[in-house]
Amino acid sequence: MFNTLKPAPPDPILGLTEAWREDPNPQKVNLGVGVYKDDGGRTPVLEAVKAAEAALLAAETTKTYLPIAGDPDFRRRVQAFVFEGPAETAGPRAVTLQTPGGTGALRVGAEFVRFAAPDARVWLSAPTWPNHAGVFSAAGMEASAYPWYDAAAHRLDTAEMLAALRAVPAGDVVVLHACCHNPSGADPAPEQWLEIAAAAADAGWLPFLDAAYLGFARGLVQDRAATEAFAAAGVPFLQATSFSKNLALYGERVGALTFVGPDEGTAATALSQLQRIVRVLYSNPPIHGAAVAARVLGDRLLRARWEEELTAMRERIHAVRGELVDGLAARGVPGDFSFLRTQQGMFSFSGLSDEAVARLRTEKAIYIVKGGRINVAGLTRGNLDYVCDSIAEVLGAPG
Ligand code: LMR
Repeated sequence: MFNTLKPAPPDPILGLTEAWREDPNPQKVNLGVGVYKDDGGRTPVLEAVKAAEAALLAAETTKTYLPIAGDPDFRRRVQAFVFEGPAETAGPRAVTLQTPGGTGALRVGAEFVRFAAPDARVWLSAPTWPNHAGVFSAAGMEASAYPWYDAAAHRLDTAEMLAALRAVPAGDVVVLHACCHNPSGADPAPEQWLEIAAAAADAGWLPFLDAAYLGFARGLVQDRAATEAFAAAGVPFLQATSFSKNLALYGERVGALTFVGPDEGTAATALSQLQRIVRVLYSNPPIHGAAVAARVLGDRLLRARWEEELTAMRERIHAVRGELVDGLAARGVPGDFSFLRTQQGMFSFSGLSDEAVARLRTEKAIYIVKGGRINVAGLTRGNLDYVCDSIAEVLGAPG
C-alpha cells in the first residue's frame, strides 16, 4: 500500500529551521522563520502574557471543551480589537471564530469560500508567503497571481498591482497582507488601501486579509488601515488575525477568522457553516492561548503593558534595519541597501540572489529563505557583525 510513497520536500520556511537546529556550527544564524528575537537572541514570553497566565492558572476550574467557534470572551474581544476605531461600522455585520493560529484561520476561510462559491479562484500577490498557495490548494481552490513588488526598484508596484486588481473577476477571492507584507516588507499607504478597497467594490471580488503582523509596521492603530478601508467600502470581506507574533504566542496557536458579510443575517448564516467546517477539521480549538489573549485584550493594565512590549519589538526591528544598512555600507558591499530601512515588519527582501543565499548557508551557516527574504528580527548584537562580514565576503566587497 505504501510502496510508491515519495518523501515530501522540506517546508521552505519551517524546514530551514529544522536544518538550522541540526547545524553544528556555533556561529549559525537563523534569518529564516518569522520569529522575533530580542537583542540577546531570545524569544521571550511577554510580561503581559506571563501576568495573564498567572491569573488564569489561579482561577482555572476546568479543561472541558470550548464551543466549536471558540472561547466566547476571546471571540468578542478579538472582534472589538479588529474593528476598534473607524472600522467599527463593520462590526454588526461580522462574526469572529477562534482558530488555531492565523494559518488555521486561512484554511477555515478557504474551506468556507470553496463551499459557498465552488468556482471562485484565489489571487495571491507575487511574491507571497509560500504557505498561502498550499493552504488554498488544500481547500481545492485554484490560484492566480497579481503583481505586488518591483524587485528592481525595491518597492511596491502600485500601478501594476492596482491595474491587476481592477481586472479580477467578480466572485473571486484576493488575499492581501494587512501590513508587513510577507516576504517583501512593502506595504500600501493608507490612501492606496482606499484605492484597493474601491477596486474590490467596483469589480466585486472578495478581499481576504491576512493580518499576521498587526503592530509591527507603524503601530496597532495605523496597521488597521486595510481593515478600515474595506469596512468603509461596505464590501464583504474575510480577515485572518494572528496573535503568534504580536503577543509572541507562537506555539500556543492563537488566531481568529472574521467574516464580514453584506448584512447581519448573512453573517449569522455564515457562522453556522463555519462551525460545520471547524467540526470536521479539528472539532473545537485549544483553550489556553486564547484565554491568555482575551485576558490581555480585556484588561486595561495588561493591554497597556502589552502595547509597550509590542512597541519595543517594533522599534528594535526598525533600529536593526538601520544597523544592517550601515554595516553593509561600512564594509563596501556593492549596491545600495538603503531600501531595507523603509520596508515594514520582520521581513526584508534583501535582493540577495539564490546563489548568495546558498553560499551563506553552506559556507557561513546563515539560513535565509530562498528568494532572499531575511527575518530582520533575527539580527542581534551577537550576530550582526558576523552577518555583515559574511554578506560582504559572499558579494565580493573589497576586503
Ligand atoms: C514566516 O513566514 O516565517 C512565518 O509566518 C512562520 C511560518 O509559519 O511560515
